[in-house]
Amino acid sequence: MAEVSVLVGAQWGDEGKGKWSDHLSRDANVVARFQGGNNAGHTIYVDGEKLVLHQVPCGFGNNDQILALTAGVVVNPGELWKEVSLLSERLSPEITKRVMVSWNSFVITPWHIHLDKKSEESSLNPIGTTKRGIGPTYQDRVSRLGLKFYEYLNPKYREAWVNKMRRASDEFAAYFERNKEVWEEFFCASSHLSAFAGNVETLLREMILRTNKKIFLEGAQGVLLDVNHGTYPYVTSSSTIAAGAACSIGFDPRLITKIYGVAKAYITRVGGGSFPSEDLGEEGKLLGDKGQEYGATTGRRRRCGWFDAVAMRYAQDINGFDSILLNKLDILSGFKTLKIATAYKDQSGKIVKEFSNRFHDLTFMEAQYEEFEGWEENISNVKRFAELPEKAQTYIKAIEELSSVRVEYIGNGPNKNDFVTC
Ligand code: GDP
Ligand code: IMO
Ligand code: MG
Repeated sequence: MAEVSVLVGAQWGDEGKGKWSDHLSRDANVVARFQGGNNAGHTIYVDGEKLVLHQVPCGFGNNDQILALTAGVVVNPGELWKEVSLLSERLSPEITKRVMVSWNSFVITPWHIHLDKKSEESSLNPIGTTKRGIGPTYQDRVSRLGLKFYEYLNPKYREAWVNKMRRASDEFAAYFERNKEVWEEFFCASSHLSAFAGNVETLLREMILRTNKKIFLEGAQGVLLDVNHGTYPYVTSSSTIAAGAACSIGFDPRLITKIYGVAKAYITRVGGGSFPSEDLGEEGKLLGDKGQEYGATTGRRRRCGWFDAVAMRYAQDINGFDSILLNKLDILSGFKTLKIATAYKDQSGKIVKEFSNRFHDLTFMEAQYEEFEGWEENISNVKRFAELPEKAQTYIKAIEELSSVRVEYIGNGPNKNDFVTC
């Protein structure tokens, strides 16, 4: 039987998915991204060198793995080509033979990027998107106006798409006329990418159904940014949850064999939207400084706060995580007191223990904390749970109990071997 693992972010993104994806997929035959686009920034270290992946999945454990982008992904062709070129220069030219893009994925065009920027710049309550054109591309997918990757690669089909869009929108027609060079460059990138296009979903389904191969499915963003279950409208435009992997590829979801959730030992968020356990004081600033919390895609400073067990219980219920990979515990060394949000107080003073994804409620929720004593020791070299300072052990056990999760590994540094086994 095939092994099908899914890894997703359990918070608001940037939990350190890249590091774990690279580590846990080391003997996988295929590593595939199943949603999102180059809004993601996944940091990994290969032979001590830092790499930030935006579209290519983080599977560099062996040289034979296929690196796939499935139908649920949105692709920026020019940026993808740049990324693959960089990887082939820095890692190995063989990479170009391993990348495979679903011909059913949708293409982010200059128009979509233009719309994303325009709506962010003109909005009174901007989402704080990455301005990579993600939302408008998914919007056109559901409006049935999207440009599929196989259409983009074929001059005849893409011309038909341009004509369809011109008829659908005068604004598009004017934008197209005004930016002829941009479009030319955009279509030019297709010459590099034809070799990558393939029927990714059929290949993966065959492997899942009729082989005993290992398939590793990498999510982007996080559960709380999911378009259905996240803190709407401050979300991304795709299904970031584990079940989204089965939708994006099209297979029996019961064939998923392991679901990993990645979280930080505290919590961060980039962009707008409510954040009940955000710490706007000195401690929050310290978390950001020590944790070097700057976006891997946009460089924006991430908002920081305390581990939120209410949100984690919600994420656990939605995804059914078999285990949690808890990163950045090393950043908490030296804090005198640590806090975990265990409930929220609503506007009427009532204590609630369930996460509300209704933005209008969540905005007024005040996090209620349980406090824990911190530890001074540097934990960067610890390998086993029993070797952690006692107070760190208590903190981890509290996270497990308060959120009803099982922590399998704890991250104590940015490299893929920097972890504590529980
Ligand atoms: P992703 O988008 O979920 O892949 O996460 P990002 O790459 O955007 O952000 C995670 C950041 O934390 C990166 O800079 C990682 O190198 C770093 N990181 C991951 N795990 C750990 C950890 O356990 N300790 C420390 N100190 N840094 C970590
Ligand atoms: P990774 O995969 C953190 C956030 C944006 C914004 C919202 C919508 O690295 O964890 P979008 O451009 O997707 O329309 O923006 O989602 N966002 C992320 N936050 N990590 C990410 O990816 C993100 N991708 C999008 O900041 O709030
Ligand atoms: Mg990131």
